[in-house]
Amino acid sequence: MSVPEYFELENGDRMPRVGFGTWQTSEDVLEKAVDAALNAGYRHFDSARAYENEKGLGRALSRWIGDNEEKRKQLFIVTKLPPGGNRPDVVDEYFSGSLSDLGLSYIDMYLMHTPFSFEHIPGDLHPKNPDGSMKVDLTTDIVSTWKEMLKLKESGRVKHLGVSNVNEEQLKRLTAIAKPECLQVEVHILCQQAPLLEAAKRLGIPVVAYSPLGSRALADLLASKTGRVFPNQLELPAVQKIAQKYSRTPAQVLLRYLLQHGVAVIPKSTDPTRIKQNISVWDFELSESEMKELRALDRGEAGRICDFGFFGGVEKHPEFPFKNRT
Ligand code: A2P
Repeated sequence: MSVPEYFELENGDRMPRVGFGTWQTSEDVLEKAVDAALNAGYRHFDSARAYENEKGLGRALSRWIGDNEEKRKQLFIVTKLPPGGNRPDVVDEYFSGSLSDLGLSYIDMYLMHTPFSFEHIPGDLHPKNPDGSMKVDLTTDIVSTWKEMLKLKESGRVKHLGVSNVNEEQLKRLTAIAKPECLQVEVHILCQQAPLLEAAKRLGIPVVAYSPLGSRALADLLASKTGRVFPNQLELPAVQKIAQKYSRTPAQVLLRYLLQHGVAVIPKSTDPTRIKQNISVWDFELSESEMKELRALDRGEAGRICDFGFFGGVEKHPEFPFKNRT
């Protein structure tokens, strides 16, 4: 099954289906990784205010762009409104902070990072109570934030708007106001999200898969805190067998599966060899029987790693997206 290298957005702009993830990396390490990613051919970079490393990405991008505006146009830069920004009066302030740290004059895609909200505390993107739970603002709703985000697009500082970590009902609620141009959610072989992907497809919304390799660092952290054990996806026998057959790495097989599953992927790596491998997924193809075998590894909701269990208290927010977490 051939897969196009881009999602074509409604105005004709193209979002590469393999992007570079930047979560859980310090500014300086990220800066070097982005140099390697640019050299390897990545043009889609996925950032977020909440990752607290936008300056590292910005430095590498500025170096690469220089004063050549044509090179800027080759990039597709995504960043996100943090959970503390989900209220109309501060959307512009958080957005401007990202723009400035990234050193850019416009963002290609701006996403609402989460439907739930933290309190807005300047200088603290992850405000906590003394007991370690998050300072959650229970009064916010996604609709009023979304309406404010639409103004950013009108201003020309953002080309496209989208959402992340929302459920199907929320996606439809926002679509009734203005259709998001991207949905970014956790999708990998153990959590394949078929119903949500189907809904996004019906609505005509491209999906970007985060944690496409199963985010080992997060999975290990959660395992140590909650006892929930997540298998290493790179070591699954079916994945290894297919990797051997095609002389590819297990990561390449996982990414190729997701591309054929219909989503874009944003693998994160700080290792130059892996960075190159993760974008070299266009010259082999999984057969329908291999797709079927890998499809069968789906664990549905039980396979979800990022249920925000590390943000104690957010499950009480009326917009918390995963209804089975208490
Ligand atoms: P590293 O940065 O050392 O390469 P995800 O994108 O699902 O969040 O997964 C990121 C994790 O997967 C990171 O720990 C990263 O480690 C690791 N990783 C990324 N690419 C590969 C690869 N090709 N092979 C093995 N591990 C990888």
